Amino acid sequence: MLVLGIETSCDETAAAVVRDGREILSDVVSTQIEIHRRWGGVVPELASRNHVLQVMPVVDEALEKSGVTLDEIDGIAVTSGPGLIGALLVGVQVGKSIALAKKKPIVGVNHLEGHLLAVRLGADAPAPPFLGLVVSGGHTSLYAVRDYGDYRLLGATLDDAAGEAFDKVGKLLGLPYPAGIVIDQLAQTGDPKAIKFPRGLTKRATLDFSFSGLKTAAMYHLQKHGIPEGQALADFCASVQEAIADVLTRKAVKAAKEAGLPRLVLCGGVAANSRLRALAVERGAEAGIDVHVPEKRLCTDNGAMIAVAGYETFRRGGGPSGLDLNANPAWRL
Ligand code: KG4
Ligand code: ZN
Repeated sequence: MLVLGIETSCDETAAAVVRDGREILSDVVSTQIEIHRRWGGVVPELASRNHVLQVMPVVDEALEKSGVTLDEIDGIAVTSGPGLIGALLVGVQVGKSIALAKKKPIVGVNHLEGHLLAVRLGADAPAPPFLGLVVSGGHTSLYAVRDYGDYRLLGATLDDAAGEAFDKVGKLLGLPYPAGIVIDQLAQTGDPKAIKFPRGLTKRATLDFSFSGLKTAAMYHLQKHGIPEGQALADFCASVQEAIADVLTRKAVKAAKEAGLPRLVLCGGVAANSRLRALAVERGAEAGIDVHVPEKRLCTDNGAMIAVAGYETFRRGGGPSGLDLNANPAWRL
């Protein structure tokens, strides 16, 4: 089955063609990062307008690169939530228009299900059951994935998402948006023990997260000591990164053990973080849990992961579908 996946929930316009939920035939991502950078974050109205400009060229390019024509596509999968309403609507309208014109089935996909199933596109392609940690700019959630379509939320952030914490601390440091990857790079030569930043909610049994305390601690530290440079900047970044990776991996391993799940899957943009990946593997090994992380380009938003989730939804005959499909910006998985 050939599925065309379309993703426009935030600041990436993406489309991909995937065969049988496993094999990427094409995967095109047009990012708006440069457009939003001067504002220090994603501006929803600018995101919508740029999706309108990019979406058809991106879909055309994905089809062209896949060597598959629209007539040969078996189904269309589009992110219908959660995300920015105006941004989501662009993808949903384009998906429905193609579905109507070409008489193809269409299914709305939850963006988080896409992140959770992106790992199916990698070489090792673990299948459920697994514990999924979704860590992105908008989400920090732990899901028990017992089967395709069976997702149970075990814990989530009560305030900032992990990526948001990276980006907001980066903003305090004067780093360009999105700062996560810059902090990761600067941290490479830093001492993660240099500054002891708070580990939110780790003294309690909860699987929920909180990163606002870290952000505040970072702000007070900078107010007191000024913006660091050179080695001190590297140490600061390594310490922030360690605090985030420590909490995420501790809770993810704990959740997997409690839920009796043998595998841990990391996904979402923050799963590209080098320290998080290394620490997850280390702590997973200690706990006898297999850790899987999709390659970095599959961690950040893309259309291929939406095609995989769409394929699995078609297979089980589920999901919101048909031409009355609408965007649902607050869709909870
Ligand atoms: O999944 P994603 O591309 O978009 C959302 O759905 O949010 O995630 C973007 C987030 C941003 O906060 C970005 O700073 C973070 O992922 N990110 C990283 C790294 N690469 C991307 N955070 C830490 N380390 C990285 N290497
Ligand atoms: Zn995402």
